[in-house]
Amino acid sequence: GGAVDYQAEDATLSQASTATNHTGYTGTGFVDYAAVTGGYVEWTVAAGAGGTATLSFRYANGTTADRPLDIAVNGAVVARPAFPSTGSWNTWATVNVVAALPAGSVKVRATAANTVDGPNLDKLTV
Ligand code: GCU
Ligand code: CA
Repeated sequence: GGAVDYQAEDATLSQASTATNHTGYTGTGFVDYAAVTGGYVEWTVAAGAGGTATLSFRYANGTTADRPLDIAVNGAVVARPAFPSTGSWNTWATVNVVAALPAGSVKVRATAANTVDGPNLDKLTV
């Protein structure tokens, strides 16, 4: 099927909050992780029959340092992409993770993986 957008501001949040204080987001805002390890954004994705899927995370990182996230599918970490600098908090880029999804309703969680913070997250496209 075609790609579906899942907004970060509509996801389940822990140690992260919705915000609108930068430009260029889609939907009604974006998610700003708190400055701690372990904050997360969790989406429930309709994976249909399952199989290999590309998880596309739209994000901004206005610092010069990486802001890695652990990407988990139904609780199992499948990748830790770096989410490198986008140059500005108003400049958005996409990080892709290819993952095997089981059939049906799948939890995709993105957890701040360093002690500093996560990137700002706009949406997940699957
Ligand atoms: C700034 C910015 C936030 C961002 C934060 C950070 O405060 O306005 O959107 O989340 O930096 O460093 O994580
Ligand atoms: Ca933040």
